[in-house]
Amino acid sequence: MELGVNIDHIAVLREARKIADPDPMDALSICKRAGANQITIHLREDRRHMQDFDAENIISLSSLPVNLECAIAEEMIQIACKLRPHRVTLVPEKREEVTTEGGLAVTGTQPRLHAAIEKLKAHDIEVSLFIDPTTEAVQASRALEVEWIEFHTGKYANIYAMLYSGLEKTPYAIPQLDLPRHTLKILLDSELENFRKLSCDAAESDIKVAAGHGLNYHNVVDIVAIEMIEELNIGQSIIARSVFTGLEQAILDMKARLIR
Ligand code: PXP
Repeated sequence: MELGVNIDHIAVLREARKIADPDPMDALSICKRAGANQITIHLREDRRHMQDFDAENIISLSSLPVNLECAIAEEMIQIACKLRPHRVTLVPEKREEVTTEGGLAVTGTQPRLHAAIEKLKAHDIEVSLFIDPTTEAVQASRALEVEWIEFHTGKYANIYAMLYSGLEKTPYAIPQLDLPRHTLKILLDSELENFRKLSCDAAESDIKVAAGHGLNYHNVVDIVAIEMIEELNIGQSIIARSVFTGLEQAILDMKARLIR
């Protein structure tokens, strides 16, 4: 299974001090050496971590394909078309959120989304949609004729954390997670079954399936077992571990869990 390493968190650390270090550019050769298959970056409209110059340098100098996550705002689509990364993953964005909290709105008429996809495709950029794992979102993605979808695994990660980490509350806990253990286990299994079913549906329509958000060295194992999911994009847990082990080892440890 392929691994996209999301290196935004290196920029988070740099922006905490507004200085030059650590530089996400320095991660490129390490990611490559450790066997990452893709570099993933998110250029947010508020530029809270990655800056325009990061995106420009990373896209032009990375020897691995770059997956640029961005909102469907016109400014971001223009930047993407200018920089021409290998892939653009369209994500929803709310200024007040700490991280991307849910999937993109894809159902119903979405003229802005449709226009963004067309523009990116016209610039030979692969398009992926970061969606909630629902039948409606997969069907809408099919109608939008994108090459990739990426399932938001945040809810799955939250359930997993509450079931196995003994946490009483995850930061983005949703009310119905305040449940007894056996109910959480049923919920976790049904999330996995849902990913299994939806990724088969997507693959039958020739849509490639990625997944990401909140995945770590523990909860990733059951996701890896879902064959139709081809790629995972993982940031927080890898960069967190790298503080103690170094980035190369942190990626190697994750890659080892992605072997099928
Ligand atoms: N995929 C997408 C589309 C995301 O927005 C993010 C978070 O930026 C990730 C994957 C990685 O999530 P995490 O940092 O929780 O591993």
